[in-house]
Amino acid sequence: MKYYLLGIFIFLININLLFSQIISFEKNIGPMVFKHCANCHQNGEIGPFPLLSYEDVVNHSQIIEEVITKKLMPPWPADPTFSHFANENYLTDAEIEAFKTWKEQGYLKGKKIKYKPFAYENDKLNASVLGKPDLILKFPEPIHLAGNNKESFFLIKVPFQLNQDTNVRYIRFVPDKRKLVHHVSSYLLSYKYNDKNDIFAGKKMYNMESDLKDITTGEELNIRNFDGTQLDRELAFGWVPGSNWSILPEGIGGYRLSKQGLFVVNMHYSSTPVDEIDHSEIHIYFSKTKIKRLELSEQHGTIGSHPVKPKLVIPPDSIKTFYVTSKIPHDISILSVNPHMHNLGKKFLAYAVRPNGDTIPIIRINNWDFNYQYTYKFKKVIKLEKGCTIYIEAVYDNTTSNPRNPFNPPRTVSALPLGQIMRTTDEMLNFELRFMKYKIGDENISLE
Ligand code: HEC
Repeated sequence: MKYYLLGIFIFLININLLFSQIISFEKNIGPMVFKHCANCHQNGEIGPFPLLSYEDVVNHSQIIEEVITKKLMPPWPADPTFSHFANENYLTDAEIEAFKTWKEQGYLKGKKIKYKPFAYENDKLNASVLGKPDLILKFPEPIHLAGNNKESFFLIKVPFQLNQDTNVRYIRFVPDKRKLVHHVSSYLLSYKYNDKNDIFAGKKMYNMESDLKDITTGEELNIRNFDGTQLDRELAFGWVPGSNWSILPEGIGGYRLSKQGLFVVNMHYSSTPVDEIDHSEIHIYFSKTKIKRLELSEQHGTIGSHPVKPKLVIPPDSIKTFYVTSKIPHDISILSVNPHMHNLGKKFLAYAVRPNGDTIPIIRINNWDFNYQYTYKFKKVIKLEKGCTIYIEAVYDNTTSNPRNPFNPPRTVSALPLGQIMRTTDEMLNFELRFMKYKIGDENISLE
């Protein structure tokens, strides 16, 4: 009888141990915060406070519990029950539970007595991904942002001269005033030797509202060849809040910089109440490998080849859905996508349908967040064969119940014709698809 009771007792203890897992900062919470939060929550980044040490996390534990339970942090708008991405960043329900348990158990540290804050300052983790950049291009002049509470737009010409034509693995935009840099897009112009007079000549910085007549021609930039022809532009880098590394496997994508060339960088800054100066930089990582597979890009929607239907006009006090449909003309291998809308955006959905009727989920965003517009890179290359159709559906909320509505009372908001400056108070429906021409076996390439 005694042994029998003892047996039950031991059994109960074991059960208890099994179910009440001990959660420590060292083993569970620290690594979780480091992986999912620290890249934004460190000095100089967009998070409002650092989350780098035990104390940082304990001191903010109440609000952390709240934002992770509501799934507001980390900000990852894509629905993980629809599709997965190599750069996805969200907490699983088990991780959220672990945080709650850790709090209930009294913030256990773990075995180590001393806790080093994560070695995360100065962008160390970011810098370690590809080592040090081989070339840093600074803006030709610092950008002066007037403290007038207005958004501002600049076009900046960043010329470069290399010793020889050079293969480039990655180009990374490094914003200086991260909280003010709103969106960045850029293109690259490569000159054949002596095609162009002097790439360094002329004005390099334009306030797009006061200095430029028409942003599509680039006339003012003086970037034409000797014979007056204009070179093809190649999309280079972009940046939005939350942007992080998006490196492709060696040989896929990349750039070939000719000895002489220039970047044209389109900078959109948020409004600021005080004067500020921005010194953003372009970091370039060379590669020994030639580009084996070209990374191509196609825009669908407002600035692209396939039109938005109906026309993107959103009447006041309405919730309206718009569509873009496109047929794939050749077999392609898709690498990443970037959906784009402004403040009235509410939901975004993209999927493809194969000729045999199978559906391929691409991305679903149930709660559009203007602040987090990532380039979503797939875990594995996805083949879309000729005849596939891509369907895009985007919902806009132009009512007063949309807290981001820039107008109260609501006004008609629409997309402007190309060539005009698109403000955040105008709307867009755009979907960038980055892909390669398909080769047999592509669907086995991992992008993680
Ligand atoms: C992509 C960048 C980014 C990541 C990753 C990120 N945050 Fe944040 N976080 C922000 C920004 C920006 C804000 C302030 C604006 C906002 O609330 O969106 C913020 C705000 C917060 C706040 C304050 C909310 C409030 O209402 O005061 C908490 C708490 C927080 N984050 C916790 C976390 C935790 C915990 C993680 C990881 C699980 C995390 N964040 C990951 C960018 C990020």
